[in-house]
Amino acid sequence: MIIEPRMRGFICLTSHPKGCEQNVKNQIAYIKSKGTINGPKRVLVIGASTGFGLASRITSAFGSNASTIGVFFEKPPSEGKTASPGWYNSAAFENEAKQAGLYAKSINGDAFSNEVKEQTLAMIKEDLGQIDLVIYSLASPVRMHPTTGVLHRSTLKPIGGTFTNKTVDFHTGKVSDVSIEPANEEDIANTVTVMGGEDWAMWMKALKDGGLLADGAQTVAYSYIGPSLTEAVYRKGTIGSAKDHLEATAFEITDALKSINGKAYVSVNKALVTQASSAIPVIPLYISLLYKIMKEEGIHEGCIEQIQRLYADRLFSGEALPLDDKGRIRIDDWEMREDVQAKIATLWEEASTETLVALGDLAGYKQDFLNLFGFGFEGVDYLADANEMVQVPSIQ
Ligand code: NAI
Ligand code: NA
Repeated sequence: MIIEPRMRGFICLTSHPKGCEQNVKNQIAYIKSKGTINGPKRVLVIGASTGFGLASRITSAFGSNASTIGVFFEKPPSEGKTASPGWYNSAAFENEAKQAGLYAKSINGDAFSNEVKEQTLAMIKEDLGQIDLVIYSLASPVRMHPTTGVLHRSTLKPIGGTFTNKTVDFHTGKVSDVSIEPANEEDIANTVTVMGGEDWAMWMKALKDGGLLADGAQTVAYSYIGPSLTEAVYRKGTIGSAKDHLEATAFEITDALKSINGKAYVSVNKALVTQASSAIPVIPLYISLLYKIMKEEGIHEGCIEQIQRLYADRLFSGEALPLDDKGRIRIDDWEMREDVQAKIATLWEEASTETLVALGDLAGYKQDFLNLFGFGFEGVDYLADANEMVQVPSIQ
């Protein structure tokens, strides 16, 4: 069987096992090329299979020789269907980790559920004893609340009024206006329930109550701010309310971890092409301009470069951790540089279907999007029969 990309809007229905493996191998090679990081040795990553979470797992394992447990929600391969990319990524990661003599186990299931938390706690107790670092990197459109059984859906809507701005269909390059109706109170509450900090706090409480956090344990969740261009739909929209809640939760968790000298942080990361960000209107146009400028300036980063810098220059540099006036780690510093944002603001005005090809980095956007699903990697023979490539990992 030859596997080709089958795009449907913001998703791709297929993914390529060999390409996903290449993606993981490239990220490992990058981390190795940057040298050792004096980071923690026992790491739990929640949302470990794609995007920033996968990069965090790779950085921990191959930068600091850490044992890792990864939690994620992915589809294994089935009759006539490829697995979801995060499943292939994780299979490849486990193979690479084992070859390097590193402990790596994964739990595939709903991280919001009590069952998956219990399963993870049992695995930690059995195999690692305690955890030194918990990375919380979930991005999900839904959450079944574990105590009420209610299924909450998050939305990507502005608050207070209709928002109209430009966006791009990155498949066709067509730039058009998009109008998004404002959220109601229920939308806001639901989005906070799905993407806010409640589940992060639940994880940390369960780990602490189980005696599974080492003295001085740290936990980090990821947030985003972005420019005024996207504020209405992002930071001041429903998802922004959830990020406000997530950021406030960091302080609550730090309080709750006092007895073990634990600390919770939020790291504000750069805008990147992931499955989560491609679905947000206006953001793809912003990212295509951002990529263009950052590449020109020689400061472009992907998930792995961002997390390597987060670990090496911030969290585990051995120096005092710089925080902004709201107590957050800022690894979006290069994206938010004044000169970078000023250039994007100018390009934004000029961007149209006709001009974007030259003004923006649509090709880079498309390339990154294909890469998410294991397509478009150098060194992969996409015409070879993919059947033999599907590894059988120990994912539970
Ligand atoms: P992603 O979609 O690549 O990764 C999401 C991860 O969560 C995957 O491992 C997936 O399996 C897992 N997941 C989703 N639902 C789950 C569930 N119910 N149970 C267990 N695992 C589940 O997303 P990305 O972009 O890496 O996002 C991670 C965090 O980083 C999010 O908080 C996001 O807001 C934040 N962030 C993203 C930025 C971006 O531009 N992509 C920028 C800054 C922050
Ligand atoms: Na992630």
